[in-house]
Amino acid sequence: MAVLVTGGTGFIGSHTCVELLEKGYDVVIIDNLYNSRQQVVDAIEKIAGRRPVFVKGDLLDEALLDEVFTKYDIDSVIHFAGLKAVGESVRLPENYYRNNIVTTLNLIDAMHRHNCTKIVFSSSATVYDAGEVSPLKETCRLGCTNPYGRTKLFIEEILRDVCVAHPEFTAILLRYFNPIGAHPAGLIGENPNGIPNNLLPYVTNVALGRLPQLNVFGNDYDTPDGTGVRDYIHVVDLARGHLNALDYAQTATGAQAFNLGTGNGTSVLEIVRAYEEENGVKIPVNIAPRRPGDNATTFADATRANEILGWHAEYDIRDMVRDSWNFAKITLANEEA
Ligand code: WQD
Repeated sequence: MAVLVTGGTGFIGSHTCVELLEKGYDVVIIDNLYNSRQQVVDAIEKIAGRRPVFVKGDLLDEALLDEVFTKYDIDSVIHFAGLKAVGESVRLPENYYRNNIVTTLNLIDAMHRHNCTKIVFSSSATVYDAGEVSPLKETCRLGCTNPYGRTKLFIEEILRDVCVAHPEFTAILLRYFNPIGAHPAGLIGENPNGIPNNLLPYVTNVALGRLPQLNVFGNDYDTPDGTGVRDYIHVVDLARGHLNALDYAQTATGAQAFNLGTGNGTSVLEIVRAYEEENGVKIPVNIAPRRPGDNATTFADATRANEILGWHAEYDIRDMVRDSWNFAKITLANEEA
């Protein structure tokens, strides 16, 4: 029996493959390499000591999906594959709905055809309505202000309806807060194409000298130091949460949502200061205007994941920024900028 990991060469997918392989699961990755590199498969093997099967392909290819399910006897699915840039989704909504939703429907159809009934879905805290006050609970109001977030919300609703129509089907919806850091081996990490949108890869590029300074998007929020506060979670903690979810899915029913966050809020300037102090680097900052769509404070109430999945985040901010820089020195510094 094997676990199919869609998008398994991506940031969170690759870390989850390491944890699965180390726990003895057989892993099959399907990835179109749109926002990742095939070398990640070698890095996963180097860390875990076991190699996943890698299938280069797209979930829009239904024949390929049937081939994979037939050839590898897939027992469960962890579904990461999808486009995830908020700003790009506003410019290219059709691409986001096609690539994120049609692919998921193809995947569900293939699961039905091959009697595979367990899926763990990579959702996001972005599904919560911007007006909800942190700490965010799974029962908070849902609502999205951009096409990317709406694809996550729509897929959650699709999976809820599929579980009602097919009682044997189970979907665990994992709502990530802000995943950062890297596996301590320094061989896999966050390595987006182009200029990073997210804070940590941007800070890392400044630390590498590839970008001159960090633009801090607003310091006039109603937060302790005026900069945005988020719930940063180490990507290895996040990856481990997928194994708890996979295990729970074997006996659970229906579609169930869980927040994967630390429950702690950290500001932009606190992240910068931790990065500098932990790694002995200088991150020049420029206070810039607020970024449209940003809110002041977002962090999780992760009680459900703690109590029902038996999962707890273990790493702290210092671990996250240290491992982030370690990945940059070992891997990013040796790659073409
Ligand atoms: C974090 C903080 C910015 C960049 C996004 C997605 C969300 C999820 C996680 C996928 C904010 C500030 C950032 C910069 C800055 N992704 N910032 N300068 O916006 O909380 O969440 O990533 O599911 O869907 O929306 O993360 O890293 O972009 O921003 O000051 O150059 O850093 O204002 O306060 P965000 P982020």
